[in-house]
Amino acid sequence: MGISRRQFIKSAASSLGLVALSPRLGVAATSRIATLRAAPMEQSIRAGAPRTNFWGFNGSVPGPLLRYRKGESVRLTFQNALEAESAVHWHGVRVSNAMDGVPYVTQNPVKPGGDFVYEFALPDSGTFWYHPHQSSFEQVPRGLYGALIVEEEHPIEVDRELVWLLSDVRVGEDGLQVEDFGRILDIANDGRIGNEVLVNGRAAGAGNVLEVRSGERIRLRLINAAAARVFQLELHGHAMNVIAYDGQAVEPHAVEHLIIGPGMRADLVVDCMQAPGSRFLMNDTHRRSAGPIASLVYGDARPLRRKPLGAPMRLAPNRLPEPDLAKATEHYIMFQGGMRGAPTMGIVDGKPVRSHELMERHGLAWTMNYTAEHEHALMHEPFLHLRRGEHVVLRMINETDFVHPMHLHGHFFRVVGVDGRKEARPVWRDTVIMGPRQTIDVAFVADNPGDWMYHCHILDHAAGGMMGTIRVA
Ligand code: C2O
Ligand code: CU
Repeated sequence: MGISRRQFIKSAASSLGLVALSPRLGVAATSRIATLRAAPMEQSIRAGAPRTNFWGFNGSVPGPLLRYRKGESVRLTFQNALEAESAVHWHGVRVSNAMDGVPYVTQNPVKPGGDFVYEFALPDSGTFWYHPHQSSFEQVPRGLYGALIVEEEHPIEVDRELVWLLSDVRVGEDGLQVEDFGRILDIANDGRIGNEVLVNGRAAGAGNVLEVRSGERIRLRLINAAAARVFQLELHGHAMNVIAYDGQAVEPHAVEHLIIGPGMRADLVVDCMQAPGSRFLMNDTHRRSAGPIASLVYGDARPLRRKPLGAPMRLAPNRLPEPDLAKATEHYIMFQGGMRGAPTMGIVDGKPVRSHELMERHGLAWTMNYTAEHEHALMHEPFLHLRRGEHVVLRMINETDFVHPMHLHGHFFRVVGVDGRKEARPVWRDTVIMGPRQTIDVAFVADNPGDWMYHCHILDHAAGGMMGTIRVA
C-alpha cells in the first residue's frame, strides 16, 4: 500500500501515547481520579476495525492511569456497573489486608450496582497495577485492568516516560470477543491465550509505532496484564536497561531478552541513539506464533544529543523488610497437575491419584501440596500459617511441565535460589516465574498480618487449583 512514512507515523502515533509526560520537570503526581467504575463498553483495537466489546474501568481499556507519589494515600470509590460481582485488587501494593480487594477473603464481593471505598497508603514507589480478583480468568481478559504508578521521591532523569500495558484478547472476525472463558482445555494447559496482542488496548504489531527522537532517553514501564500470555521481548538496535522488576529497584543492567510473565512488570531505560529516519522492531519471541509488538521510528528532527544522557539510571530502593536466611523457617510447596507430563497428583491410601480423577471429582487441574484432606479444601482457607514477623523461605517445587508466574499478595520476596543454586544478587519481586520442573526459593519477612492470596498469575491455572491463602497472624 502506498502510504508515505509521514502519513503512517501520523496515523499510528497516537496509538502508544497512553502517557507521555516529563518527570524531568518533576510534575506533581497526584491522580485526581476519585472513582473507578467497571462497566461493559466498546472500543476498536485498531483504526477502522469493528468495535470490540470489553468490560472496562471508566470507559476504556486499559482503565485510567493512576499516578501518585510515594507516601501519598489513595482514596477511590469502586462502582460496579457490571452484571457480575467484582472488586479491585492493587497488585504489588503492600496494602493492609482489608484493602486487598479479594472477594470472600478480605471483603464481600461488590454486587452489581454496589460500590466500595478503597483507602490505603503507598509505602513503595514503583510500577503496579490493578484488576479484579473475582473470576479474574474472565474479568481481566474482558478488559478490567489498569496501571498504578507511584513515583519516587526523586525520579531519575529521563526525557519521556511511557507506560505500556501488554495484554491480549481473543476476538472473532466480527471484532467481538470470543466468550469461551474457563474452558477446561485452557485451564489444564497454558491458559487462555488471545489471538490479538494489545499494547494499551490497541493492536500490537509493526504498525504500532512509537515515534522517538534521536538522542532521547525513555523510561518504559512494562506491565503484563494478560491472563495467560508470557512475553519474551527483544528490542533491535537498542539496549534494554532494566532498572526495576515488579516496581522494585535493581542494579541497572542490560538484557537481550526480557521475560515478563502475567502479573510481572519491568522498568526499562532505553537510550534512542540511532540516526534520524531509522526504524527498529520490538519483538515478542516467546511463542512460535509471536511477532512484533511495536516499531520504534526515528523522526527527522535534529538529534537531541549526540551521546546518551549521562544521568544515573539507578533508582533509590524502597525500604523492605530484609529476610535473614540464617533464622528463616523453610516451607515447601509442591505443584502438580496439568495435561502434559506428570499425570499423578500424589498418593492417597497407598494409591496414586490420577489428575483426571481430581478433575472429574472437583474440577481441579492443579494442586499445591496435595493431600486427601486438602482434596475438599477451598482455595480460600489458609494452607500455610506464618507467624507475624517470621522470616520465611518458601521452596516452590514445580513438578509440572508448565511455566507458572507465582504471585504473593501483601509482601515482596527475594528470589534467593533457583534449582538449589543460590542467587548471587537476589532481586525483590512480588511475582516470580517458575519454569517447567524448576525449583525456586523465595525469602521474605511475613510482616503484614492477614490472609494473603498466593497463586499462579496464569489466571486459568489459579481458577483450576493453583491458588491458596497464606495466613500471617
Ligand atoms: Cu494480580 Cu492475586 O493478583
Ligand atoms: Cu500456572
